[in-house]
Amino acid sequence: MTDLASQITKQDKFLVFGGGFSGDYFAKSIRKLGCLALTSSRSPQNDPNNFIFNSEDNSIPEDSIFEGVTHILSCIPPDKNGNDPVLKRLEGKIKKLSLKWVGYLSTTGVYGNTYGDWVSEADKPIPFQERSQRRLNCEKEWIKSNLPIQIFRLPGIYGPGRSTLEAINAKKVKVIHKKNQVFSRVHVADIAHAIIYLIQNKNHVDFHQIINIADDEPCSQIKVIKYGYQLLGLNMPKKILFEDAKKDLSPIAQSFWIENRRVSNKLLCKKLGYKLIYNNYKLGLDNCLVSFK
Ligand SMILES: NC(=O)c1ccc[n+]([C@@H]2O[C@H](COP(=O)([O-])OP(=O)(O)OC[C@H]3O[C@@H](n4cnc5c(N)ncnc54)[C@H](OP(=O)(O)O)[C@@H]3O)[C@@H](O)[C@H]2O)c1
Repeated sequence: MTDLASQITKQDKFLVFGGGFSGDYFAKSIRKLGCLALTSSRSPQNDPNNFIFNSEDNSIPEDSIFEGVTHILSCIPPDKNGNDPVLKRLEGKIKKLSLKWVGYLSTTGVYGNTYGDWVSEADKPIPFQERSQRRLNCEKEWIKSNLPIQIFRLPGIYGPGRSTLEAINAKKVKVIHKKNQVFSRVHVADIAHAIIYLIQNKNHVDFHQIINIADDEPCSQIKVIKYGYQLLGLNMPKKILFEDAKKDLSPIAQSFWIENRRVSNKLLCKKLGYKLIYNNYKLGLDNCLVSFK
């Protein structure tokens, strides 16, 4: 990370809409650089860096929250009508700010099914699921806003506290086999650090409005689960064929198995020069084990 001081300064103030798993990790990473980073949630938290925002009940942050804001990251999913919750409620306020940068966390679901093929930012999104259509609509709303927006398309997010290890521990893992099926994934630290890398280097690397953040090794779910059991010193239960398991899966769980794609990170990692911290699930789960309780 070169030229750090000139791109993110201690005077910068970040607003993170949606301080959930990724938003909270990002805010903590930003604070380590000495900046103020406030996160939103829908209910009161015992945290001076937290403010209330709920697009569904008109809980709008007070004006003081927006004072001096230089950067915004939105981690909030689309509402049920496919509108972006932040833009719907706050676009006017946000547009009045002197913003250096705005980021939006999207999903690789917008690409639709590639039947196991690699997919990159150059490919036209063909969202298949309704939720992915709503997501693509939100991406379009952000682009139309004319804010200095960068959109990050993410596959399955995991990290300390939310990984296969917790799922095994909670007995929520089903060892399902579906021939040739792969999933892409990303460690939460790589989301935060890739974004920070891009902000810090924005004068040195080409600006791309849409960027995938994914690890190097899309693979079957079974490989990941097997490694999780190995790390916990437990025996993996027998595999179930997808066709047999399907009937017991929730509609949302089933929908994840309908699509099969390998998400390319070449733009981020080859062209723009970001170096992944966790290149694959093994490195990522090793990290999750450190704080696993
Ligand atoms: N999880 C994945 O594997 C995955 C994969 C790809 C993309 N994504 C997308 O990437 C983004 C971040 O994912 P994540 O898993 O880190 O998210 P997360 O932990 O589920 O957090 C979502 C945040 O959005 C807030 N939120 C939800 N609806 C809201 C509304 N109507 N008004 C105001 N705030 C609202 C939540 O508030 P509370 O804190 O009050 O709950 C929470 O802080 C999300 O858009 C997600 O859909 C997720």
